[in-house]
Amino acid sequence: MKILMVCLGNICRSPLAHGILEHLAKEKGLDWEVDSAGTGNWHVGKQPDRRSIAIAKNYGVDISGQCCRQFEVNDFDKYDHIFVMDYSNLNDVKALARTDGDHEKVSLLLKNDIVPDPYYEDNQFDPVYNMVEKRCREIIEEFNSPS
Ligand code: 4NP
Repeated sequence: MKILMVCLGNICRSPLAHGILEHLAKEKGLDWEVDSAGTGNWHVGKQPDRRSIAIAKNYGVDISGQCCRQFEVNDFDKYDHIFVMDYSNLNDVKALARTDGDHEKVSLLLKNDIVPDPYYEDNQFDPVYNMVEKRCREIIEEFNSPS
């Protein structure tokens, strides 16, 4: 399974989703490839936001080695699923889709809800971590159960 997590800046939310899913998959012994990207390019080449690094560390997940990159069209070819954090990410990524197949790969991580942007809200990193972790556990179960 190859999964890409996408948000706006690729420094707060998607690095958490990337690190958490990668961590849980590894814990289960799954050979999953997980990455993250931003629709914007302001922070390309940087580490995740220090607040995301700190909250992940609190829960035993190390995301300090991640490096911000921008979403690119050939990510549609590389990944089975592209999970986005909010409706603006959904619009931005879908605007780059070339085929129905590309469109079908993209969905909100939380299905019917958004992961709010914590960039201007220091106290939102913990709730964001927890909602993302809960969903990542579900994703592991969904994709890992025999069909
Ligand atoms: P993210 O949060 O999309 O969760 O990484 C943001 C980080 C930076 C900015 C916006 C959102 N920014 O405008 O720089």
